[in-house]
Amino acid sequence: MGFILQGTWIIQIGLALFSGWVAQGCSLHQLSRGNYTLRCKGHMDYHRASAIATLQFNCQLAFMVVLSVDAYSVISARSGGSLESSSAAASYRPIGFAEMQQLENSMNFTLDSNDDDGEER
Ligand SMILES: *[C@@H]1O[C@H](CO)[C@@H](O)[C@H](O)[C@H]1NC(C)=O
Ligand SMILES: *[C@@H]1O[C@H](CO)[C@@H](O)[C@H](O)[C@H]1NC(C)=O
Repeated sequence: MGFILQGTWIIQIGLALFSGWVAQGCSLHQLSRGNYTLRCKGHMDYHRASAIATLQFNCQLAFMVVLSVDAYSVISARSGGSLESSSAAASYRPIGFAEMQQLENSMNFTLDSNDDDGEER
């Protein structure tokens, strides 16, 4: 989904810049081949342009979130069954306190620090 967001955002920027849809007061200048810069008339125009770009990006992000949730719901509905009824989820259960104690007693870790190793050699 991140790749799709990035790709569609770059396409949107490309369409906006090269089809003359840039914010009012700003224009695209070509410095050299493949080197373009966006110039705005004043401070206010510059800030408005960056605010519009931020808003555009937020709208696109929201759109992608809605789209991915829709896709997820469609896919999970098609693959069938809720999580509770699936066999994988049913075979797991939370560990109890007594089992946790048992597990801690059976564990026997010894940590040798690197300093001790150095002294031995
Ligand atoms: C584009 O041109 C400007 C001005 O000549 C230069 O400072 C900048 O480094 C150039 N950018 C690239 C990516 O070549
Ligand atoms: C942990 O290891 C030590 C040293 O080998 C041993 O004396 C001790 O009984 C062990 N403890 C458990 C709980 O296995």
